[in-house]
Amino acid sequence: MKISENLFQKYNVPVPRYTSYPPATAFQTGFTGVDFIEQTKRSNSATPENISIYIHIPFCPQRCHFCGCNTAIYQSEEKIYRYIQRLKKEIEYIAQFIDKKRLITQISWGGGTPNSIKMSYIKEIMDLLRSLFLLADFAEIAMECSPAYLDLKDIDSLAEIGFNRISLGIQDFHTEVLDAINRKSPRIDVNETLAYMKKKGFRGLNIDLVYGLPLQTIESFKENIQRVIELQPDRIATFSYAHVPWVNPAQKVLEKYAFPESDEKLSMLVYAINQLSANGYEVIGMDHFARKDDELSIAKYDKNLHRNFQGYNTKKTTGQVYAFGASGISQLNGCYAQNIKSIDKYIEAVDTNSIAIERGYIMSKNDMLIRDTINEIMCNGYIDFAEIASKNSCSVQQFLEITGFNSFKIAELINDGLVEVSETSVQVKETGMLVVRNIAAAFDPKYSPTQNKFSTTI
Ligand SMILES: C[S@@+](CC[C@H](N)C(=O)[O-])C[C@H]1O[C@@H](n2cnc3c(N)ncnc32)[C@H](O)[C@@H]1O
Ligand code: SF4
Repeated sequence: MKISENLFQKYNVPVPRYTSYPPATAFQTGFTGVDFIEQTKRSNSATPENISIYIHIPFCPQRCHFCGCNTAIYQSEEKIYRYIQRLKKEIEYIAQFIDKKRLITQISWGGGTPNSIKMSYIKEIMDLLRSLFLLADFAEIAMECSPAYLDLKDIDSLAEIGFNRISLGIQDFHTEVLDAINRKSPRIDVNETLAYMKKKGFRGLNIDLVYGLPLQTIESFKENIQRVIELQPDRIATFSYAHVPWVNPAQKVLEKYAFPESDEKLSMLVYAINQLSANGYEVIGMDHFARKDDELSIAKYDKNLHRNFQGYNTKKTTGQVYAFGASGISQLNGCYAQNIKSIDKYIEAVDTNSIAIERGYIMSKNDMLIRDTINEIMCNGYIDFAEIASKNSCSVQQFLEITGFNSFKIAELINDGLVEVSETSVQVKETGMLVVRNIAAAFDPKYSPTQNKFSTTI
């Protein structure tokens, strides 16, 4: 695949990200723990049958000033200990409502920096999950790790505990950029880390990069891409840095540095796409890449890709997501439910109620149909109207009415050869997948091109 900057320039308009449908901004505080328990019971007879677990560890030894995640600087070992005890209590409580015949196919640890807490805590939680649930033999057990706090001994421990996936947050390979964002360099050479993980049998190894950070230039970003190609991870994510100090006040201190302009960010993304495609990587969505032999690339070709808040996965391994820990978002067939973000309030809520739901959203039948459609378009770039209507127990006419789809909405994209629409289906072309958010918006009845509250793609 070879693309031009003009394509992105033309379609770089405000559209929802569609990390979920509806987006987290639609969650309501009227949704309570009682609703969540009711929905958890119902999830036992809904699809997918599999269980995905998300564990949020909101602690980091040092705060990177660019960070947009829910995290806090280590307060004390005692606080982390108390947090882990509440996590265990929350898991035990929710587990009693989940049918034990269902299999866990995914466990994802995110944060924050889960690899910076004691391995004994991680083992305690994993042992608890194993004692409460059955794990599929193909289960993906993954952790987002910061390389500043990871050594070979930790990799040994993670493998012993049963982890088989690791995502490494590199962000940038240049010390001056890392210094500017207040981030420590990797503890050991990244080459050695990746080679060791491969030797220990980890699969789907991922590296995160961010473009648009202070002091980055087009040249320095190209070096990042070259370096990552040499490292040959199975997967690469290149995230666009969003400077939103009104949401993340820690980002304000970065304003003393020079940032890449938006046309430079565009050149960085286009370079990443062209260079990675030319070097054996498949484009998965707009900013994720996977080697051709990775299961995400295979799933893309088989139209079996899926996505949730934890990232891309396959229809085989995905499950309904039960999230534990501060700010965790559960994604069941019938609802979204988010925990309290503050660590102290989370601990207090679990002490009192065993759970800590703050807000959520109950899906209507129409919402489910729209969610399914947007997911299919975003991941697999293909919709067969009759198939998706039948899966959602409605007629094609009802499908068109509920989603509000009309090919006029994407006439420009059709003219540009990015998508093909027939009487019965929509097929996004390979290049069209790079602006797939704009195509998905045509199936979102709540989206209006004149609303300006969404971010642009880059
Ligand atoms: C929970 S964070 C990182 C995990 C780990 N603590 C680390 O720093 O490597 C997951 C990823 O989100 C991305 N990220 C965090 N803040 C971001 C921001 N403001 N803009 C774009 N990407 C961001 C980074 O690429 C990061 O690796
Ligand atoms: S980028 Fe990672 S290590 Fe840095 S503050 Fe965010 S979660 Fe913590």
